[in-house]
Amino acid sequence: MEIRPTTDQDLDVYVDTLHAAFGLFPETPTDGGGLWWSATEMDRNLLAVTADGRPVGTAGAYTFELTLPGEAIVPTSGVTGVGVLPSHRRQGVLTAMMRRQLAGFRARGEFLSVLLASEAVIYRRFGYGPATYTQRLTVPRHRAAFALPRARGTADTPAAGPDTGSIELLRRAECGEILETVYDRYRRTQPGALSRPHRWWASGAGRPPVSSASRYVAVHRDAGGVPDGYACYSLADGTLTVDETIATDDAVATALARFALEHDLVSQVVFKHVPSDHPLRWQLVDFNAGERSSSTDWLWVRLLDVPRALTSRGWFVDGELVLDVDDPFLGEHGRYLLTVRDGKAECVPTDREPDLSLDVSDLGSVYLGGTTPSTLVRAGHIRAHRPGAAALADALFSAERAPHCLHWF
Ligand SMILES: CC(C)(COP(=O)(O)OP(=O)(O)OC[C@H]1O[C@@H](n2cnc3c(N)ncnc32)[C@H](O)[C@@H]1OP(=O)(O)O)[C@@H](O)C(=O)NCCC(=O)NCCS
Repeated sequence: MEIRPTTDQDLDVYVDTLHAAFGLFPETPTDGGGLWWSATEMDRNLLAVTADGRPVGTAGAYTFELTLPGEAIVPTSGVTGVGVLPSHRRQGVLTAMMRRQLAGFRARGEFLSVLLASEAVIYRRFGYGPATYTQRLTVPRHRAAFALPRARGTADTPAAGPDTGSIELLRRAECGEILETVYDRYRRTQPGALSRPHRWWASGAGRPPVSSASRYVAVHRDAGGVPDGYACYSLADGTLTVDETIATDDAVATALARFALEHDLVSQVVFKHVPSDHPLRWQLVDFNAGERSSSTDWLWVRLLDVPRALTSRGWFVDGELVLDVDDPFLGEHGRYLLTVRDGKAECVPTDREPDLSLDVSDLGSVYLGGTTPSTLVRAGHIRAHRPGAAALADALFSAERAPHCLHWF
């Protein structure tokens, strides 16, 4: 078995092998999905080939930026296109590709990688942990009345108060680069968000609104006419389905939610992707109006350099923790003193007794602030060696808001 990098000439065999792994046939794009492989980076993919030259496995990577807590933006690889032919499974093909891929990410100087998992049982063994979550929110229109508190914002912390902007209704095909520009502003402040490279928008690769599938788009503009948010949606059988709402501040998000919920001839609004801390339920008269469903993991994080990862994100609470981190897949182990002062962390090797012992996949889970360390202590994943250690870790690893990733790849 050979694992080799692909070139542009391998596109057909790469796409064919991957489709065969999923039991699919390559299709033309239909409403709801663009040609995802038009965004593929053929110089970053791997092909597993048998000794007699048959391709049996694929593993790809996209070049993204990830926003960490504290609005730190770092390069990352987004693992994609993972598949092994059914005839060659459970023989270590994926394991070999993962090993090769992680070595390649390190060689690029990256200290973390991310992926979306088709099955939650696959990737923990390779050091990935679920780090962001998403859910569907369904609000019946007859229970959607707003009860916003009076705006009490200050210059520094504007309340989600009266909207001074406007909304224009466009069709997806009329949006030009508006969506790309607004998304890019949004993702720079949202922990857990990934960049969407220009080629994705240009080729319509992926899911709406990146794909050019027929959609209405409510574009929000500020008082000066500059686009600062959008909601991309479709309407069928009395249900208005919002693919994604992108807002550069909370007032814009509220205006777009109102737009969707006050739509005539609609019996319910489905917001397909909302984070766990979505404020909408607090804004409605009926706190229980929204039904949350399809709660699932989204972005999985794999740390490749613990000190660099921990010193790269922003921190909001001062404190000191000794972390004993095991990385069985890469055969590595380290004990680190993490010291946070004034929003910055230092992380150095230490011999001190650990406060917490954890697997690198668990560190990936807590890294963006979307999973509390105490939950993983209670689950038996992380070991806390003294009372209060888990609570301190919860406070330290918290982010300014729940991390959320909307990008499908
Ligand atoms: C998931 C997939 C790529 C695994 O490939 P593979 O070559 O069989 O994986 P490996 O042989 O390297 O497996 C390594 C270990 O993971 C386990 N494992 C891998 N995939 C698993 C799965 N889907 N469910 C349960 N265990 C799995 C294996 O049992 C093995 O365990 P072991 O080390 O204890 O023996 C392959 O099953 C596949 O193509 N599935 C369909 C497409 C898919 O889901 N791709 C992932 C997209 S995110």
